[in-house]
Amino acid sequence: MFDSLKALPADPILGLGIKYKKDTNPKKIDLGVGVYKDEAGNTPVLNCVKKAEQHRLTTEQSKAYISPGGSPLFNSEMAKLIFGADHKVLAEDRARIISTPGGTGALRVAGEFIKSCKSDATIWVSNPTWANHNGVFAAAGLNVKTYPYYDYENKSLDFDGMLNALKEVGKDDVVLLHACCHNPSGMDLNKEQWQQVAEVAKTVGFTPLLDMAYQGFGTGLEDDAYGLRLLADTVEEMIICSSCSKNFGLYRERIGACTIIGSSSIAVDIANSVLLYVARVIYSMPPAHGAAIVETILTSDELRTEWYGELKDMRDRINGNRKLIVDKLIEHGVTQDFSHISRQMGMFSFLGLSPEQVQQLQDDYSIYLVGSSRMSIAGYSNDNVDYLAQSIAKVL
Ligand SMILES: Cc1ncc(COP(=O)(O)O)c(C=O)c1O
Repeated sequence: MFDSLKALPADPILGLGIKYKKDTNPKKIDLGVGVYKDEAGNTPVLNCVKKAEQHRLTTEQSKAYISPGGSPLFNSEMAKLIFGADHKVLAEDRARIISTPGGTGALRVAGEFIKSCKSDATIWVSNPTWANHNGVFAAAGLNVKTYPYYDYENKSLDFDGMLNALKEVGKDDVVLLHACCHNPSGMDLNKEQWQQVAEVAKTVGFTPLLDMAYQGFGTGLEDDAYGLRLLADTVEEMIICSSCSKNFGLYRERIGACTIIGSSSIAVDIANSVLLYVARVIYSMPPAHGAAIVETILTSDELRTEWYGELKDMRDRINGNRKLIVDKLIEHGVTQDFSHISRQMGMFSFLGLSPEQVQQLQDDYSIYLVGSSRMSIAGYSNDNVDYLAQSIAKVL
């Protein structure tokens, strides 16, 4: 049976990581990587996570299954983190949330859920978007279409293009929006733009799907959820996919959440029964360890405060690195404008280099970027930013 298969190309980002590891140049820099790195180039376990794990080690009583929806305590704490404790969808009992294996698990469950709502559903994703969005939704059987988003030439948001496209989507379509820290462009909507998107969503009637993989990595936990909360205030039905991979540093534990908002408490209970069924037939029960860590942190004043501090450190380093590279490029004589990097948010921005220049950075300077020139902002440090800026100056 396997004879009929044709080998698929390796994932470009994972392939890049393998090449980077093999490179013996001591100056090599990995800017392709999709995880946060500290000044020393490590992705450490957060202190609050270590303490929560220690606590679980001594208090955990059983490894028996929880349920397809995961831990109720994790789910209710995540709902408060996503919406804020006083949001109207919580007061009106219109949200249901389940734990999922990472943000990707949440997206796949959401995809299958949408398919259950409408067998020929279309989902609109930004151009560009996180590469895996296309695969995950296509695998769930959805039609995936794109709306304009990033203006590569002006290194800014094509907001008019985006809004005009959203006005034309079908009322039964789903529109995926990055809640903050857009991956790969780093280009986020401002508050006025969110307002306009919310108005269009209400007028057209499409269902927003908010992907929130980086809450706390942009401006802060509350500000990063601004657009999401506004939309939840405005529309009747919505889907939210959250990830705890980045903000809790729990990447390999695979913990995230899928939230649905319905028009009423009764309507959302019906929808939730379908969501739970979808989860049941994909992976049956979500992993529990990551959820246990997150709920331990969020329900302890001490650990929660420590987490805020550690999250702020990661955010500050990313925002500091954004300014740093822009300043260093100027210092090393680059006249081309790279100031967009300091105006953008989150883990990634496009450098705006050609594929040939990206290849030259790799071949001549051991600097590893994906072909689109998406740069991982946490991938460099004070120690190697001069080398990075000089190398970019040379390929320019
Ligand atoms: C936009 C976006 N959504 C979802 C995910 C998935 O996150 P997870 O690792 O939790 O599956 C990522 C991961 O990089 C992402 O960038």
